[in-house]
This record gives sequence, structure tokens and C-alpha cells, in this order.
Amino acid sequence: MFSRLRSLLLVSVLIGSGSAFLAPQVTVSPEYDIILAGGGAAASIIAGSLSAAAPSLKILVLEGGPTTRDKLEHIQPARYFSHLSPYSTTEQFVVSSPSDAVAGRSIVIPVGKCIGGGSSVNFMLYNRASASDYDDWEVEYSNPGWGSKVLIPLLIKAETYEVNTPANPSAATHGNSGPLHVSYGGNGILPIAQQFLNIGPQVEKNRPLGPDGNDFTNKSINVFYRMPKWIGGVNGTRSDAPHHYLYTQQGNPNLVVSEGSRVTRVLFDSTLTATGVEFVYDKHVFPDYDPTPKQVTASKLVVLAAGAMGTPQILERSGIGAASILKSVGVKQLVNLPGVGATYNDHVFLVSPYFADPTTPTFDNIFRGDPTTWTQGLTQWDANRTGIIASNGVDAAIKVRPTTAELAEIGPDFTARWNSFYANKTDKPLLWMSALAGLPADQTGLPVTSWLSGGVFLGYPESLGSIHISAATDVYAPPNFNSGFLTAQSDVAALRWGYKKAREIIRRMPSFRGALPPAHPPFAANSTAALTETEPVAITAPNIVYSAADDAAIDAYIRAAVGTSWHSFGTAPMKPLAQGGVVDPSLNVYGVKKLKIADVSIGPEMVNANTYSTAIAIGSNAFHIIAAELGIKTT
Ligand SMILES: Cc1cc2nc3c(=O)[nH]c(=O)nc-3n(C[C@H](O)[C@H](O)[C@H](O)COP(=O)(O)OP(=O)(O)OC[C@H]3O[C@@H](n4cnc5c(N)ncnc54)[C@H](O)[C@@H]3O)c2cc1C
Ligand SMILES: *[C@@H]1O[C@H](CO)[C@@H](O)[C@H](O)[C@H]1NC(C)=O
Ligand SMILES: *[C@@H]1O[C@H](CO)[C@@H](O)[C@H](O)[C@H]1NC(C)=O
Ligand SMILES: *[C@@H]1O[C@H](CO)[C@@H](O)[C@H](O)[C@H]1NC(C)=O
Ligand SMILES: *[C@@H]1O[C@H](CO)[C@@H](O)[C@H](O)[C@H]1NC(C)=O
Ligand SMILES: *[C@@H]1O[C@H](CO)[C@@H](O)[C@H](O)[C@H]1NC(C)=O
Repeated sequence: MFSRLRSLLLVSVLIGSGSAFLAPQVTVSPEYDIILAGGGAAASIIAGSLSAAAPSLKILVLEGGPTTRDKLEHIQPARYFSHLSPYSTTEQFVVSSPSDAVAGRSIVIPVGKCIGGGSSVNFMLYNRASASDYDDWEVEYSNPGWGSKVLIPLLIKAETYEVNTPANPSAATHGNSGPLHVSYGGNGILPIAQQFLNIGPQVEKNRPLGPDGNDFTNKSINVFYRMPKWIGGVNGTRSDAPHHYLYTQQGNPNLVVSEGSRVTRVLFDSTLTATGVEFVYDKHVFPDYDPTPKQVTASKLVVLAAGAMGTPQILERSGIGAASILKSVGVKQLVNLPGVGATYNDHVFLVSPYFADPTTPTFDNIFRGDPTTWTQGLTQWDANRTGIIASNGVDAAIKVRPTTAELAEIGPDFTARWNSFYANKTDKPLLWMSALAGLPADQTGLPVTSWLSGGVFLGYPESLGSIHISAATDVYAPPNFNSGFLTAQSDVAALRWGYKKAREIIRRMPSFRGALPPAHPPFAANSTAALTETEPVAITAPNIVYSAADDAAIDAYIRAAVGTSWHSFGTAPMKPLAQGGVVDPSLNVYGVKKLKIADVSIGPEMVNANTYSTAIAIGSNAFHIIAAELGIKTT
């Protein structure tokens, strides 16, 4: 498969390469057994697995974005950053309304828009949820068959964990023969991550180095760990869903994957049974092509898998949602489901940049598009699939759960949230924290040097947002999106504590050379928290003392600086109807027939980890649910 691939010119590294097609290459027939709306992470797993298990089943995948097949910008891991470019043809950017909770800003949320969805553009951080996250789904939200007992074996089956060694005590929770390979990447461990793993346990006295941050139990909490990646160690390639589940089945003519095909709405008969979908050829993928809506019939099932941003919009355009929302845009209501789009979840993320010793190797030359680094890296990748191109620059982290003493540091704004949500579940961390080897941002105007960033995201933010359509039929109309970020004060208190924690470790790391002031809190010049250090302090140095004014400065900074961690989630939750649910435990949309949802929209409660793993669990479980209903044997 790779013999045909050659490294692209640097220009395509920087701006991504557009689709070369002017007209669709794939013919869509009038009727299929199953239609999937959206061809992202979960959809690729469902369609590929169904096709493998039942080759005669006629399956259509309608994906709004372009194909990713054999394209180096998706296959070579280090190119992930290029997809975030403003010229991106593989992501779309959902823009929130401005909110005082984030200093009057609009938050921009990139989401995958290509076959493979997020799995084909994401940062490849391998993180898994805690067992209680899925057990909450099952027990607290009444979803039999969705607890950790069911989902963990599916996640084991999906992966080949190349990190495993016979000595690894947690090998039992990892797989060794699944399609998705997991490794530390081909670039070893960058010095900044090594320093984080060395210094962290000395600063955080009861937080040792651990063998695994991802065994689903509390043994993975409060341990510094080396970060695995969704990267195959042998091939040096991204472990996306389509190259490992979907394209592998495409010799089967009954599996049709149509790129640039944007679903407008689901079609129903008079008994509210889904009979198919309407779609348009996407004007960005096929400019100047026939824009009129097409209809296609599904004889057995329609599955919405358009992601947490896309799925609620399709539902609303189809007449399924809150009465007030549908009325405001002039869509006739078929089913009253106020839960549609009403609970946008994401992991609010704070990245705080510090100068690093300029001789410290980081990922910055990759982020900046430095020609020498790219040329040497691509040459090495071509030669033996190792090196910086086979990595992502995130090599170490910790999932932090506060002790009783630390809860006092976080303060009273967090107490109620702790007691109601975290207290009794010892596998739930408050936050994920890392020292990133580089500054993953547009570095225009900044010194060309090595950077080191404190990265902190909250595992379970209390704040929720919403997403709704702004137009009845126009799929290009920007949605009415409210991120909800930091509307709960508990989240600000938790992030304030996280900022301080990360700073204490980072200021002791040998590569530390001081903070980048405009991207940190505006501490007063005479404050003990002022950003005056330019060299590492001793490990035994006292911790910085913050005054009430300093805390206020941190809070203002957090509101002005936080962004997304790209983990849009939970906008069509699997909950009882009376609790605002949209689907039942068989993934059926309430009030209609033959319509399911199978993507991260269904999460009834956030999981603490980066969400690709959960998309894999949902896609795998959805495959089994659908196969069972259709009488298809699975192994
Ligand atoms: C920039 C970025 C970085 C990330 N980093 C990480 C990471 O490091 N680790 C991790 O675990 N997770 C990461 N994630 C999250 C992870 O990739 C997603 O949670 C996951 O892909 C969600 O899977 P899904 O199947 O629910 O939806 P998606 O994978 O988002 O797929 C949905 C698909 O539906 C399509 N679609 C939407 N509307 C329509 C429509 N109307 N018609 C047809 N198609 C439609 C979209 O184009 C998209 O391809 C990242 C995500 C992004 C965007
Ligand atoms: C690795 O590459 C080989 C040869 O191209 C391919 O057959 C195999 O599926 C790839 N494996 C993974 C995990 O990507
Ligand atoms: C791959 O090539 C690089 C240099 O080209 C070399 O340093 C490295 O040791 C090689 N790795 C393997 C696993 O062969
Ligand atoms: C936590 O456990 C204690 C003791 O078992 C119990 O009293 C309390 O109600 C529990 N709290 C929650 C939120 O479940
Ligand atoms: C971890 O979980 C186990 C089993 O649920 C429990 O007995 C133990 O007390 C927990 N440990 C910590 C440190 O919370
Ligand atoms: C810092 O200076 C301000 C006035 O400039 C003063 O009000 C404040 O008390 C000083 N703080 C400390 C910690 O000295």
C-alpha cells in the first residue's frame, strides 16, 4: 500500500492538499440496506465491520468531507497540525457566540471533515477513560450493555498495544491483535517529557512514575506516565479508523463510500419510520457541481454518525428536537426531543507557554514548518518509518486527582462539584496535565526558539453548552453554537489550581527559561507570583505563594485564554426520555423507527480522556447492536 506513496512538497505540508475531483467518482444507487450519515471514526468502524461480517449487506456511507485514502497528510503522524490551518479542507471550524465567561470571546472548535472524521486529523494522543465513566453510563443513566464490562473488552479487541512487554503489569487491559496499533511513536522520548517524568514525582510527593496511565482503574490516576500514541510503531503511520476498518473492505462492491456528500435530513414515512436520507454534494469538495438535493432509500436502517457537531443538526433539520428551536427556524416538528443539541460537552483546555533552552529539541520546527527539519524527517520516514514524522511531540502526562489537603487549595467554589460527582469514584481524575515539548500554536511574531508548554484540561467540566441549527435546510448555515465554557465557577477554580501545579513542575525542569508573559496571568510586578524567573529553580525551592489578587489575575487569564481540546461530545445523549435523552440503549432515536445514532453525541456523561478511544468503543458496540438486530453473526 505504501509503495506508491511519496513525500509531498512542503507547501502541501503547510496548507493541506485540496481535492482534485470536480465531480463525484462514486455512483450512489437509489437504495441500500443501511445508510450511515457521516463517515467519521465511529462510522468507519461500523460500516467496515458490518461489511466484513455480512458481505451481501448493501451499505452506503455519506461523508461530507473528502476521502483520506492513501493521503500522506493523514497517514504521516506529524502532519496533524496542518489540518488546523485556516485553509484546511479536512476540518471545519464551528464558531461559538461570544460569551462573558470567556472574556467576551468566540470559541472556535475545529472538527474533522473527511472520511475518518476526527480519527484522520486528530493529535493521536492515546488516552482511555476510567471504568466508572462507562459504569455511570450504564447505572446512572439506565443503559444496560454500556458499562465497562462490555466496553473494555471491545477496546482491547480494537488495538494492538505495541507498548506491551511481558513485564508490563497492566498488559491485561490492552490488546495485541486489533487493527489499531498503539506505540510511543518513532521518535523516542523528547527531553522535555523525560524531565517532566523525572521532576514531576519529586515535586508531587505522592505521585510516582507509573507503567501505564490507561488501565481504566485508579492505578492509572496520580501516576506520571509516558504517553502512548495512536501510531503504529512498525509502519510509523496514524491509526485512523478508515485505513484500518473501512478501506480494507472496499473491494466489496456492496460497500459504497461517497465523499463530499452532506446529509441534509432524514426522510420518514407517515408512521415515522425512517425510509432514507436527503443529501447534497458538498460545494467545497465538488465546487460548481449540481447542488440540488438527492434522495436515497434505506430499506433496513439509517444511522446518524456525523459527530457531536453534525448529528444534532441533522436531527433538527429532520424535525426532531425542541419545539422552540424548530419553530424559530421554520422546521415542522415531527418529534419533540428537547435533549437534541442541549448538552454540548468538551474538555476545556489551557495551554501556557514557557521559553525552553534553545538547544532543547522540541516539536516547534515541525509546527513552524522549518524546511530542514521536514526534509530530514521525511527522508528518515521514507527510509525506515521512524523519527519526528512518526510522532506528535506529546510524550508524557499525568491524570491528577486531588487529595483532601489539595481540595482545600482548590477552594470552596469546587466543593459541591467534588462531593456530588467525584468523591465516591476514586478512578476519576480532576485534570490531565502535561509538559508539551513545543508550542502547538501559530508562532507568527514569536521568537524562533524552543518552547515548552504547560497543558491542562479538565476531565469532567461542569459547564455545558448547546448547538442548534440556524436555518431550516441550508447545510452551510453556521449553527447557533454556545460553548458553555467556564459558565460554572467550579471549572475556573479547578483550572486555576491546575495552572499552579503545572508551573511548579515546569519551573524546576532543566530546560525551563521563563514564562512568555503575554500568555500568562497579569501578575502585579511586586507579587511573589510575578513572572521574573529565567532559569530553573531548585527542586527544593518553596512553592510560589499566590495572593487573592494573584488568584483573580489567574482567573481573568483563564477566561481570556482557554480553548477547546477538540473533544466535542454528548449532544444527543443516551438517557431516559424524561432526563432529556435522545436515544435509548439500543441507540434508537425516541419517537421514530429505524433511526439510530452511533457517534460521540450519545455520551450521556463526559469521559475524562481524549475521546477517540470512546468513539471506538461506541462504534464497536453499535456494530454489535446493529448486527444482532439484523441477525448477522459476529465473532
Ligand atoms: C483537531 C482534533 C484533535 C483531536 N485530538 C485527539 C487526540 O489526540 N486523541 C483523541 O483520543 N481524540 C482526539 N480528538 C477527538 C476524536 O478525534 C473525536 O472524538 C472522534 O473522532 C469522534 O468520532 P465520531 O465518530 O463521533 O465523529 P467524527 O470522527 O468527528 O466524524 C463525524 C463525521 O461526520 C461528518 N459529517 C458531519 N455532518 C455531516 C453531514 N451533515 N453529512 C455527512 N457527513 C457529515 C464529518 O465531516 C465527520 O467526518 C481530536 C479531534 C480533533 C478535531
Ligand atoms: C502496515 O503496512 C502494511 C504494508 O503496507 C499493511 O499491510 C499493514 O496493514 C499496515 N499495518 C498497519 C497497522 O497500519
Ligand atoms: C532509521 O534511520 C535513522 C537515520 O536515517 C537512524 O538513525 C535510525 O537508527 C533508523 N532506525 C531504525 C529502527 O532502523
Ligand atoms: C458517597 O458515599 C457516602 C458513604 O457511603 C454516602 O453517604 C454518600 O451519599 C455518597 N455520595 C454520593 C454523591 O453518592
Ligand atoms: C482504588 O480502587 C480500589 C477498588 O475500587 C479501592 O479499594 C482503593 O481504595 C482505591 N484506591 C485509592 C487510592 O483511592
Ligand atoms: C504591590 O503594590 C501595590 C501598589 O502598587 C500595593 O497596593 C500592594 O500592596 C503591593 N503588594 C505587595 C505584595 O507588596
